[in-house]
Amino acid sequence: MIPPARHSEIAAAAGLLKKGGVVAFPTETVYGLGAEVSNPYAIQRIFEIKRRPFDHPLIIHIADSSKLQYWAEDVPEQAWQLAEHFWPGPLTLILPRNRRIPTNVTGGQDTVGLRVPAHPVALALLGALGPEGALAAPSANRFGHVSPTTADHVRDELGDSVDMILDGGPCEVGLESTIVGFEGRGSSKDGTAMILRPGGIPLAALAEVLHGNISLAERSDRTPRVPGALASHYAPATPLELWPSADLPRRALELEAKGLHLVIVTWSPHYPKHMNYRKNKNTAFFSMPSEAENYGRMLYATLRRFDNEDFDCLLVEAPPDAPEWMAVVDRLRRASCADALKNPNIEAVHG
Ligand code: TXA
Ligand code: MG
Repeated sequence: MIPPARHSEIAAAAGLLKKGGVVAFPTETVYGLGAEVSNPYAIQRIFEIKRRPFDHPLIIHIADSSKLQYWAEDVPEQAWQLAEHFWPGPLTLILPRNRRIPTNVTGGQDTVGLRVPAHPVALALLGALGPEGALAAPSANRFGHVSPTTADHVRDELGDSVDMILDGGPCEVGLESTIVGFEGRGSSKDGTAMILRPGGIPLAALAEVLHGNISLAERSDRTPRVPGALASHYAPATPLELWPSADLPRRALELEAKGLHLVIVTWSPHYPKHMNYRKNKNTAFFSMPSEAENYGRMLYATLRRFDNEDFDCLLVEAPPDAPEWMAVVDRLRRASCADALKNPNIEAVHG
């Protein structure tokens, strides 16, 4: 629960937001950079602080699903079912927008992304804004960079450019919400639910609620409206390479021969013994959890940490090809400069 001292901070944050301020706040996924939906100047500041193109829509955070019809229209039955099961939680629904939402929030789109975050501080903040209060909030990082999962990450990256940073501790999920859209909707109010961005809620859990009526949008189906789908997104500054377990030692030797300072990030419990890899003094090893949820929670913090150290390259062991790893693999692929899973013959940036 929220410690008493936090309540006055939350009240102060709500006061700033009502006056058009921009406040970073914790959610269960990643930290968000929030502004009152109804204040176009505050919304504009979000884009400026993030250096984000103005046509990339923001997610609106609301206190509970009872306000879904206030912000959206023609809500399909499937969306209600998902909201009921997963809110508060790491799920964003893309729905036809209500006209009261200023167009700069939705990047000029006719749709809006909505979610109820599962974090006591975020919910208290939304509650303090009143019944019609809502926060447009992208992740609190510069455009294209790794999302923040602690208040310190936000401070390091955005510092004084925001009016306040609410600290709610490290994020539980650590990866952004799963985004679901509904396509091919006719007068029947039915349509195909599609995962536009894998995230905190796995496909299997969504499929169970929708009796299997959900699919994963192909990369080629994704529109630029979802910048998370751009290849350069979520990138750390240090080059990251993603390699299958069996190819990792060979690649490490190649890069070491060039005198590069590497960190090898693995998940297999038996690595590196199993790989018969000889440790080089210029190479560091880091073991990530071998379970997808725990790996996801640590991923962005790990990427930031190694970005701040003096490595030439992060060599990452590709996670298992299993559905529960989908969101982690998605983020690693976007972060990588040489994705050997897509192209085994790739000659990486150091080549
Ligand atoms: O977990 C999350 O979703 C976090 C926390 C802060 O809630 N937010 C987040 O926001 O990741 P952002 O802006 O970094 O990513 C939101 C994604 C973008 O890819 C954006 O294009 C997509 O949601 N999006 C928002 N509204 C949309 C719409 N109307 N149509 C299609 N995509 C939309
Ligand atoms: Mg983001």
